[in-house]
Amino acid sequence: MKNALYELINNELSRAVVEKEHAWKVFTFANTNQNNEPVARSVILRSYEFNQVSFFTDFRSDKIEALKNNHTVSLCFYSNLLKLQLQIKAKAIIYHKDNLCKEQWDSTYWTSLLCYHMQRKPSTVLDEPFLLNAENMSKDEAYKNFAVIVCKSIEWDVLELKEKGNQRSKFTFDMGGSFNKAQFLAP
Ligand SMILES: Cc1cc2nc3c(=O)[nH]c(=O)nc-3n(C[C@H](O)[C@H](O)[C@H](O)COP(=O)(O)O)c2cc1C
Repeated sequence: MKNALYELINNELSRAVVEKEHAWKVFTFANTNQNNEPVARSVILRSYEFNQVSFFTDFRSDKIEALKNNHTVSLCFYSNLLKLQLQIKAKAIIYHKDNLCKEQWDSTYWTSLLCYHMQRKPSTVLDEPFLLNAENMSKDEAYKNFAVIVCKSIEWDVLELKEKGNQRSKFTFDMGGSFNKAQFLAP
């Protein structure tokens, strides 16, 4: 199915993966925690293909256990340049110590992987401000802390800000993750 707005978003997400300054390089990832409370935080877009968005995270972080219980997540991107907000409802899939992780780990610049050398698990209460001693952990040990979260699109809600009235569209995806249908919504 062809749709100009869908093609534009595909193009922008693909560009955001490789362009550091792209407004969509950092996006908001929201899910529910173990207490069923909403949690939203910024993450870095690492890949986009076949309507799937991915980011890296620490496998020891609380969001991993929460995602095992509830894999339905919400992503939000906004570009002031494009005047475009993209909200994605998605199913999150956790990758850890597998081929996809290895491929991403090996192809990522080492400075972006230093944070996985942290001894303590994320959210641990500390007696003093955190100081990274990356050299205290081997690369192989750090790799065990590295996870890739792939978010498979279920629905997109797109808001285009326009002077003569905002336009909102909904895109749905089939079970296989392929673009299925586009509809206009009242903004
Ligand atoms: C610009 C920016 C980019 C970030 N990128 C990531 C990321 O790619 N992955 C990640 O897990 N956390 C990233 N963080 C940190 C998260 O926002 C969050 O603090 C961390 O994941 C802990 O969240 P949690 O306790 O809900 O797991 C980033 C923070 C900022 C400010």
